Amino acid sequence: MASWITICDTCKREGWPGPAEGAAPPGASLAELVETAAEGTALRTRRTACLMGCDHGCNVAVQAKGKLSYTLGRFEPTAEAAEAIVAWARLHAESASGQVPYKLWPQGVKGHFVTRHPPLPEEA
Ligand code: FES
Repeated sequence: MASWITICDTCKREGWPGPAEGAAPPGASLAELVETAAEGTALRTRRTACLMGCDHGCNVAVQAKGKLSYTLGRFEPTAEAAEAIVAWARLHAESASGQVPYKLWPQGVKGHFVTRHPPLPEEA
């Protein structure tokens, strides 16, 4: 089952000049970088407008059916952040439960975890 990275493409960061200046939201920039970093992997990506974590953007969610799901935030829209997100999501995809041993975490995701959700129970 594929792991998905959902990127909020409307996240803002302090210092963003705003749409009046014609600048893309930092979330849109991070989305593009994550999409690029995930190319050629088995990961799936999608964008959404707002994961309701606006005060700690940029935010992404990593999910897979039957596994723990996570929200990560406080990312700068950089290639390094995108590569760390994708590297961790690949480990999530490879794991049976979605739990990735801390010793395997890429440095770039440390300090960025915001929420963890257990998988929904199987319906009878
Ligand atoms: S705008 Fe990204 S979480 Fe709300």
